[in-house]
Amino acid sequence: MNTVRSFSNILVTGGAGFIGSNFIRYMFAQPDFKGTIINLDKLTYAGNLESLKDISEQYEGNKYFFEKTDIRDKAALDICFTKYKIDCVVHFAAESHVDRSITGPSEFIDTNIIGTFNLLEIARKHWLNKEGNIDQSYLFHHVSTDEVYGSLGDSGLFLETTPYDPRSPYSASKASSDHIVSTYYHTYGLPVTISNCSNNYGAYQFPEKLIPVMILNILEQKALPVYGNGENIRDWLFVDDHCSGIWATISKGKLGETYNIGGDNEWTNIKLVNRLCEILADRKNRDKDDYKKLITYIKDRPGHDLRYAINCEKIKKELGWKQSLTFSLGLETTVDWYLDNLEWVKHIQSGEYQKWMNQNYNMR
Ligand code: NAD
Ligand code: DAU
Repeated sequence: MNTVRSFSNILVTGGAGFIGSNFIRYMFAQPDFKGTIINLDKLTYAGNLESLKDISEQYEGNKYFFEKTDIRDKAALDICFTKYKIDCVVHFAAESHVDRSITGPSEFIDTNIIGTFNLLEIARKHWLNKEGNIDQSYLFHHVSTDEVYGSLGDSGLFLETTPYDPRSPYSASKASSDHIVSTYYHTYGLPVTISNCSNNYGAYQFPEKLIPVMILNILEQKALPVYGNGENIRDWLFVDDHCSGIWATISKGKLGETYNIGGDNEWTNIKLVNRLCEILADRKNRDKDDYKKLITYIKDRPGHDLRYAINCEKIKKELGWKQSLTFSLGLETTVDWYLDNLEWVKHIQSGEYQKWMNQNYNMR
């Protein structure tokens, strides 16, 4: 039986992003979570507080607080840790899009490596009290990706012991941050856990990633850009299942350990795009071929990893985690979410979401 940890004040970095906002919503829905969440986010193009409107209406100023802060700003992090007496960090904040890392790697190095280092330094400072004693109920959880393991051929799965072999500036920056987090456990004894997850999908995903790009282009009858020959494989996981994996890890995971989280759900990109055309044809009462003919093969992503697939037996066996949703249901739910939330999409596409944040939050 694993000891179950509980926390009072959880600092969620990157909580205005896709997975972070879903994680905050997930936590407030857990009956056994009684704590407070502090969402610390710089609000880059990918950070959208509109994704947390319901949460802020219900909990802001009471059990939910927002701090517009850059994780590269150590002094501001220090103030935040003191102000909220943080006892757990769940670190999502990152530059997350592979294509952007190819065209502009420097933000990835700054935020993903230096930002993580800053956060670790401040977490370590607050974990040790003024007398040099350690706070026993403390945890730093680092949210990472399966991309650190590189690319698979036709067979095999990524294990927690698979050697790192990142191929893009994004995955190299995440690999680097994973290593730094791990050294804080081995060198200083800081209580850390790490999770490496496969491709997430679901509500509130920024429309630059494959699934929302395709849904929205289908709706607008625009070309559906498939990189290369479309045979690259990803292992898709519904975002809530990633959140439950993180919750299982922070509450029951062994300190210093890494847990892989995955969907057991490999799809080629082209098969997935075809499936989205079929779901939307059904919803819009259209012929699926009207949408499928929009598929356009375009120049491949440089260094495009062929296949990702996770072995997640460790988290299943040790922490009792499992996926909750079939891909078929998860995809339909996601398509329906985008159809029901076209206002959210419109605000992103027009840049209105940033104005909304300025009006609704006293931006510092
Ligand atoms: P996202 O791009 O949707 O959100 C990132 C968030 O981080 C945004 O709110 C952004 O404003 C914030 N941020 C960026 N730079 C910051 C900085 N310097 N200081 C403070 N905040 C900053 O990303 P996501 O898809 O939600 O991914 C979240 C985390 O999960 C990342 O660490 C990513 O590597 C990891 N991950 C993502 C996936 C996936 O499929 N999306 C899979 C596995 C792991
Ligand atoms: O595996 C986890 C990773 O998944 C996360 O760490 C990253 O943050 C997240 O962005 C995601 O990375 P990918 O590069 O796999 O996701 P993306 O949605 O960008 O692309 C998925 C696949 O689809 C990939 O093989 C590239 C392809 N693709 C993508 C886009 C945006 C296309 O063919 N056309 C597109 O327009």
